Amino acid sequence: MKIMINVAMSLNGLIAGRLGRRVEISSNQDRERVMHLRSTCDAILVGANTIINDNPDLRAADRGYEKNPVRVILDGRLSIPTHCRVFDGRSRTLLFTANRERKMSNCEMIYNDSMQIPVDFVLDELNDRGIKNLLVEGGSKVIRQFLLSGKVSSFSLYIGNILIETGGIPLFEIGSDVRNAILSGEKLGDGFLLNLDPIELKKGIEEYGRRGTKAKLG
Ligand SMILES: NC(=O)c1ccc[n+]([C@@H]2O[C@H](COP(=O)([O-])OP(=O)(O)OC[C@H]3O[C@@H](n4cnc5c(N)ncnc54)[C@H](OP(=O)(O)O)[C@@H]3O)[C@@H](O)[C@H]2O)c1
Repeated sequence: MKIMINVAMSLNGLIAGRLGRRVEISSNQDRERVMHLRSTCDAILVGANTIINDNPDLRAADRGYEKNPVRVILDGRLSIPTHCRVFDGRSRTLLFTANRERKMSNCEMIYNDSMQIPVDFVLDELNDRGIKNLLVEGGSKVIRQFLLSGKVSSFSLYIGNILIETGGIPLFEIGSDVRNAILSGEKLGDGFLLNLDPIELKKGIEEYGRRGTKAKLG
């Protein structure tokens, strides 16, 4: 399966505001690019917090594109409200969860016993459903897991022309300096679109995880 990550970040490295407040980071040109990208993918994947904070519909067809990707949500505890737009029944939604008590309508529920559902399990289930191109859109917790899986083939980062007030959600937590992560870049609207190397990013993120483990061990 081809796995792509696409995300927009502010000049000070944030993908959302305080308490996950949604902030428009992309330019019009970037939004158009993302819609096109969505329409070329079989599925779009996001985490529960993105659904709760942003309530996206994760569709492309309403914006002039023919194809709507399958909507995939990871929500171990199953905390997302039923009225979210991904449950509007207008395109297919897959919901991965460990919570077998709560039932949701207008989606296919896929269960795993772990609250932290392994990426490999998710990919196997998507593969079984014929997904060949997966677009991972966020948030930062989900992006981190996919980068750590080592299975990401491309990472598009749009840097918007905005600084978000301190206290928002950072895209990366990195445990060692990472150089040479930029593969290519171009100006797009009033921001920049970068193509990053997922393997270089993975090294820095892994190091952050190791530091966290050492700190816990004391
Ligand atoms: N700028 C952008 O391009 C962009 C794109 C997308 C999102 N965002 C922003 O990102 C913010 C959210 O980011 P975030 O890092 O806080 O959260 P997130 O990645 O959207 O969601 C994290 C949550 O999803 C569930 N989850 C993630 N991986 C899972 C797994 N493997 N198994 C089971 N459940 C899993 C967990 O929910 P439970 O704890 O309920 O189990 C987890 O707490 C939003 O505020 C949104 O505005 C920005």
